[in-house]
Amino acid sequence: MASVPEIFGTMAYGPAPEGVKPAQAWVERHGRQFGLFIDGQWSPPGGETFEALNPATGKPLARLTQANPAEVDRAVRAARAAQPRWFALGGHGRARHLYAIARQIQKHSRFFAVLESLDNGKPIRESRDIDVPLVARHFYHHAGWAQLMEQELPDRVPVGVIGQIIPWNFPLLMLAWKIAPALALGNTVVLKPAEFTSLTALRFAELCQEIGLPAGVVNIITGDGRTGEALVSHPDIDKIAFTGSTEVGRIIRTATAGSGKKLSLELGGKSPFIVFPDADLDGVVEGVVDAIWFNQGQVCCAGSRILVQEGTAERLVAKLKARMETLRVGDPLDKAVDMGAIIAPVQLEKIQGLVRQGEEEGARLWQPSWSCPREGWFFPPTLFTEVSPAATIAQVEIFGPVVVLMTFRTPAEAVELANNTRYGLAASIWTENINLALDVAPQLQAGTVWINCTNVFDAASGFGGYRESGFGREGGREGLREYVRWVWEKEDGGKTVGRKGAKAVRQNGGKVGRASASERASALPPIDRTPKLYIGGKQVRPDSGYSVPVLDPSGRPIGEVGHGNRKDVRNAVEAAHKASGWRRTTAHGRAQVLYYIAENLAARGEEFARRLGALGSDAAAAASEVAIAIERIYTYAAWADKYDGAVHHTPFRNVTLAMPEPIGVLGIICPEDRPLLGFVATILPAIAMGNTVIAVPSSRGSLAVTDFYQVLDTSDVPGGVINILTGLPNELAPVLAAHDDVDGLWYFGSAEGSAEVERLSAGNMKRTWVNHGRPRDWSDPRRSAGEEFLEQATQVKNIWVPYGE
Ligand code: NAI
Repeated sequence: MASVPEIFGTMAYGPAPEGVKPAQAWVERHGRQFGLFIDGQWSPPGGETFEALNPATGKPLARLTQANPAEVDRAVRAARAAQPRWFALGGHGRARHLYAIARQIQKHSRFFAVLESLDNGKPIRESRDIDVPLVARHFYHHAGWAQLMEQELPDRVPVGVIGQIIPWNFPLLMLAWKIAPALALGNTVVLKPAEFTSLTALRFAELCQEIGLPAGVVNIITGDGRTGEALVSHPDIDKIAFTGSTEVGRIIRTATAGSGKKLSLELGGKSPFIVFPDADLDGVVEGVVDAIWFNQGQVCCAGSRILVQEGTAERLVAKLKARMETLRVGDPLDKAVDMGAIIAPVQLEKIQGLVRQGEEEGARLWQPSWSCPREGWFFPPTLFTEVSPAATIAQVEIFGPVVVLMTFRTPAEAVELANNTRYGLAASIWTENINLALDVAPQLQAGTVWINCTNVFDAASGFGGYRESGFGREGGREGLREYVRWVWEKEDGGKTVGRKGAKAVRQNGGKVGRASASERASALPPIDRTPKLYIGGKQVRPDSGYSVPVLDPSGRPIGEVGHGNRKDVRNAVEAAHKASGWRRTTAHGRAQVLYYIAENLAARGEEFARRLGALGSDAAAAASEVAIAIERIYTYAAWADKYDGAVHHTPFRNVTLAMPEPIGVLGIICPEDRPLLGFVATILPAIAMGNTVIAVPSSRGSLAVTDFYQVLDTSDVPGGVINILTGLPNELAPVLAAHDDVDGLWYFGSAEGSAEVERLSAGNMKRTWVNHGRPRDWSDPRRSAGEEFLEQATQVKNIWVPYGE
């Protein structure tokens, strides 16, 4: 026992353990074993089972049930049966339930915190002060969205039954992020917690019973990746929401390709922590503690790469080492502990392996002088210096308490280093110079940028990735989009009625497509030239040296277009990247260019109408198509400076700027049915939002669109902003889908083509938007213009800026 003067000398803390009795009693009450929670009932434990272990001791906590495909099916059926009534309850009714969940979590907050720390190994200080309060906040916030859905999302309806798969690092918080928005907007869910951490989800299931949530609205099934797979492949799931590794994210993208299931993926990261020389270094050191030693570094958005200006590095490293010496690693239930246990031996081995590799590759390792507890799975805070940007530990997600430090000279170099991974989840910027911070923030490829803070989250702010960190947002108004569909998607069909829609278009296509003989005679003679491709603002010959014939709807050849190939795609992608200055053009400037395009198209309107006539439209339809195209360009010129972001009121003395940013380089396979309008209606929203595009017009559209080159040339559209490849759309689509430098792909074509695009996009996790072969009325502005297109053309970056006293 230390004497009082000794304690004053060392400032050492004695143990201050949190009581575990209520949590243990709860597990005992269940006989240390749990079944599945389906349709408001517990199934008896049995069949294949597995153990939940305490990472701080390695000892078993309870035995859990591995849900098999039949049980997954039962859960999905229960959710399906419950969904219509849950939605019909109305916004207020759902709000009351979500509010009750939030209240009940608060009433049992310490219980949840203790159970979470026992099961996951995270320090009680974090589960008590961060995880559980954020869980309650998420349900309160989304109770509000349930209440407001009818007014604020008038054209949207629930997606339906949602399959949700979550990881082990924030078990209850990830559950809240998934369940709260889904329920608020009238969906029902089947949620699978990670096999390492199911206990708080099972306690949550009980809580749903306690507050009287209707049976089947929330179903919780436990199990490992096999259960996850069964859920993903279940035919009656309308959407999968997944958080976890990029590898599994890729498997899920591939598995759901072509199924029509909506998908959101929140994946890994390697987030930069950028320190400029004028930063408050003591604040920075505490920032690093929060960035990489929070939750033992098992955080998808952990600031795992410190990038510091060269002249500041030495001072920062000295301060960091001093602080690392004072960190306390140990019993997660000790209130004075900073870092708890690593989730499982497999994760500990992964961390150890990567650390060994870091040393082998020549980086310099530093760890504090004290040692970790022997029992359980622990790893000390670790700092690597002298790290090369290409080193494995600088590129791979370690998912442990290991940070690498690299230096830069100029802000431009900092940005380059920061963006030098395949991920894009989060970033933080440390400087006292707000001008510098707000200059750097938009240049970072990341869904969240924190200024002088890190790892702060709130229900009011969207969270999610750029690039291989996934797509979709959780939280904020932007997160709501993941759990709704446009009402006319349901009106037009969804999965089954879609077939009726296809029939309607075939009939319609027949009518519009067949021009009378006299109309044909008055149209231009068949086109006798072969237009080139349009790349980087220039007309170029196709690399293949071949042309393909274009047929009118009755099968008569009406011309030829260049046969674009893989090499042409490469050139177009390169040109589109070179034109990236377009995203920095002001919104007003982009609007001006768009108006100019409309003006020039209007000036040549009759010529375009004649061309459409030659392609098979009757005169009235051709004139109307040109008129609608001009109007559509006006629509997006109008939107260019009005599709605003938002300022989220996150309660941390911050304002959070939710900025819609362009996706980057977008491939667009235009629809077949309207040669000119199909092109204009898809390309214009993309460029209005600052993307550069590689457009593949439909084969008939090619002949109208190649005339459009001159309109673009005379409208001040910078070279490379719109690149046009003619040829065979279904041959070019897979090349674009598999291309690593294409950031997003829209595909309006067949169901098979849609599936292929989704499957191939898994390579770099590009965002895709496909129509699954479902037709759309391109002349109806309600169905094919406006917000839906703008949402697809942008991704939201949330920038947290300190604000207020
Ligand atoms: P994981 O991605 O395998 O597991 C996440 C969830 O997916 C779990 O519920 C798991 O049961 C489920 N799952 C696994 N295979 C599946 C499949 N084929 N189909 C459907 N669901 C499936 O992550 P894991 O193995 O737990 O951790 C491995 C690495 O992933 C970590 O070292 C870390 O780098 C990363 N990770 C990233 C997370 C993040 O939040 N971004 C969270 C957890 C892990």
